[in-house]
Amino acid sequence: MPDEAATADFAARLAPTLQAGMTVYLRGDLGAGKTTLVRGLLQALGYRGRVKSPTYTLIEQYDLPGLNLRHFDLYRFRDAEEWEAAGFRDEFNRDNTCLVEWPEQAASVLPPADLEIVFTIQQTGRNLDLYAHTDAGKRCLNALPY
Ligand SMILES: Nc1ncnc2c1ncn2[C@@H]1O[C@H](COP(=O)(O)OP(=O)(O)OP(=O)(O)O)[C@@H](O)[C@H]1O
Ligand SMILES: [Mg+2]
Repeated sequence: MPDEAATADFAARLAPTLQAGMTVYLRGDLGAGKTTLVRGLLQALGYRGRVKSPTYTLIEQYDLPGLNLRHFDLYRFRDAEEWEAAGFRDEFNRDNTCLVEWPEQAASVLPPADLEIVFTIQQTGRNLDLYAHTDAGKRCLNALPY
């Protein structure tokens, strides 16, 4: 992905492949483009509002006509005991599609990923590697138009 516009194009291709009930991990360093991808997905799904990074709130929710999207940023998540009390566990249900930045911060409590996207910062742009871990994830990759 040479630039932010390319990431948005990729997000537009990925968006229609996402299904309810899926969990997607977004891995990569600070500034690698995880939130940029989520912003592109939301735009492709027709959301026209502001997309805030859930750095402090840990979660932002978007109930859209086609998809109930949950955007997590667990960079500041510390205490695994908070997980249930915060209601996070309940968000991983069959109706929601959960996109999770910094999944490694909640590894002991987080449900496994159907799909994992690893962002690597390049000299110019970003490299994205996609891994499917379940049948749902594989269906998603198979449905991706190239
Ligand atoms: N494909 C790309 N090529 C070059 N720059 C990009 C690309 N995608 C995003 N960027 C830029 O890189 C930055 C990525 O910021 P973003 O908030 O998306 O990162 P993040 O991975 O969510 O970071 P954090 O872990 O801090 O939440 C933005 O300034 C964006 O414009
Ligand atoms: Mg982010």
